[in-house]
Amino acid sequence: NGLRVDAVAADAPSAIDDDAAMFKGKVKKSGKLSICVFGASGDLAKKKVYPAIFSLFYDGHLPDDFVVFGYARSNMSNDEFKDRIRSSLPCRISAAKDCDVKVEKFLTRCFYTAGQYDDPEDYKSLDVAMAEQEQALWGDKKTLRLFYLSIPPSIFVPVAQNAARHVSSKSGETRVIVEKPFGRDLESSRALTEALAQDLAEEHTYRIDHYLGKELIENLTVLRFSNIVFQPLWSRTYIRNVQINFSENFGTEGRGGYFDNYGIVRDVIQNHLLQILALFAMEEPASLDAEDIRDEKVKVIRSIRPIDMDNVVLGQYKGKRDGDGVLPGYLDDDTVPPGSRCPTFAAMALFIDNARWDGVPFLIKAGKALHKRQAEIRVQFHHSPGNLYKKQLGNREENSNELVFRIQPDEGIYLNINSKIPGLGMRLDQTDLDLQYKTKYSGGALPDAYERLILDVVQGDKRLFIRNDELEAAWKLFTPMLDRIEEDEIAPELYPYGSRGPIGAHYLASRWNVRWG
Ligand code: NDP
Ligand code: BG6
Repeated sequence: NGLRVDAVAADAPSAIDDDAAMFKGKVKKSGKLSICVFGASGDLAKKKVYPAIFSLFYDGHLPDDFVVFGYARSNMSNDEFKDRIRSSLPCRISAAKDCDVKVEKFLTRCFYTAGQYDDPEDYKSLDVAMAEQEQALWGDKKTLRLFYLSIPPSIFVPVAQNAARHVSSKSGETRVIVEKPFGRDLESSRALTEALAQDLAEEHTYRIDHYLGKELIENLTVLRFSNIVFQPLWSRTYIRNVQINFSENFGTEGRGGYFDNYGIVRDVIQNHLLQILALFAMEEPASLDAEDIRDEKVKVIRSIRPIDMDNVVLGQYKGKRDGDGVLPGYLDDDTVPPGSRCPTFAAMALFIDNARWDGVPFLIKAGKALHKRQAEIRVQFHHSPGNLYKKQLGNREENSNELVFRIQPDEGIYLNINSKIPGLGMRLDQTDLDLQYKTKYSGGALPDAYERLILDVVQGDKRLFIRNDELEAAWKLFTPMLDRIEEDEIAPELYPYGSRGPIGAHYLASRWNVRWG
């Protein structure tokens, strides 16, 4: 198909010159970069995408020659659009005095074009508008065009098609970032992949999962594969169970319309939490190359045993009195259909059928409107054999070691150990070997996940993006379970807004001899 982006980029190697070394994995200040955010009037664009691009600019990670276009249907002038995003641009280093100047400088490179998502003529106009700015700023030099599809999934295909056909870079490469959700089940995900593949080569498609851009998640593989103390422990021989917990202290407020069509399993577990599990449990990749890492992730996802519904608990939050007011239940949201059984909470036990993890329960828990906002991995080890300190330790399971990766907030890694309380006599205590990012790395705010990931796309680094076979493996795992939930109309267990979730989750954990952290 002559319209595929890979066909456009077929001569890309010859199109790569020293002037555009960003194609080779480095962002050269002399590279030429044109970004277009589709759905620029939306929530994600304002909250995450523009702030991330600005922060990259602020910290000097963008080439000197760049422009950022926004495209959506809403009618806005350039100035109105800039006013809209100005307030969301963060001054990362709060002490910096020149932030306002940098904001204004950044905004001089921002442009907005209104158009329909299905009208080729509008895309041609966008192409002309982009070319005009590129020409004015850097002439005919080879340009990397990067499209961010910050749009609802229902329009992924027409936007990707039209953008690839009418707005691709004529001289350099085009790379496209696709937001989740990538389908709702195996069938729809395959259909989406096939439709996108008509115009986008896999090589140029970047399926984003922003959890892979989080600082702690990047550190997970460093910790595993560069520390001799952890390597031998990382298996069923020493690990009793692994928990991956995600909780938010707010509901689906404002996103109920989207959420009701997906539910918590598709929204968070099938992607973010499964990716964490894959990085946690995969074998050591042959190298740090994107393909080697992704090969290992696919392998371990494929080794997960089909999910047993007896190991699944679903919940939905209900309203709760809060002083004089009320915290609204899921069904109180006007955008949610009355009587919806959509789960806002899910907990499940997964098992990996390979030699390393045979029999180790991986307990996954995710919920909205719980008592706190937190994401973490907890690794509980077997108790130390022998009974030298049995008297002092008491319950051995409760006193076994635990390694915790706190993904957010307050990023940190700590190892719970038994230790002697200083002084005469022999009293033991549980305490932490504690790495708190805030105190250890006090050099300023951590980059947002979107910053890291957008920079990776500019650099052509695909390590942190989802490959199509990974996506397929993830949907193969979850689709039978999701089908059962829908076909059997399984009613979620209700839990009050702000609580720890449904009681069933505790029974599930105790069935596998686990205490939720
Ligand atoms: P929005 O609902 O804000 O949509 C983005 C823009 O798309 C809107 O401003 C609107 O622009 C246009 N649009 C909205 N609905 C339709 C429709 N039915 N048909 C055609 N155009 C429409 O989405 P978000 O910004 O929240 O999300 C964008 C993508 O990112 C989605 O795929 C979402 O799942 C994903 N995502 C979002 C997150 C978030 O926190 N918001 C988090 C993680 C992923 P206009 O009318 O001007 O054309
Ligand atoms: C998104 C989900 O992918 O991740 C949201 O669609 C969820 O429902 C969000 O709130 C959580 O991301 P973070 O980075 O705020 O933990």
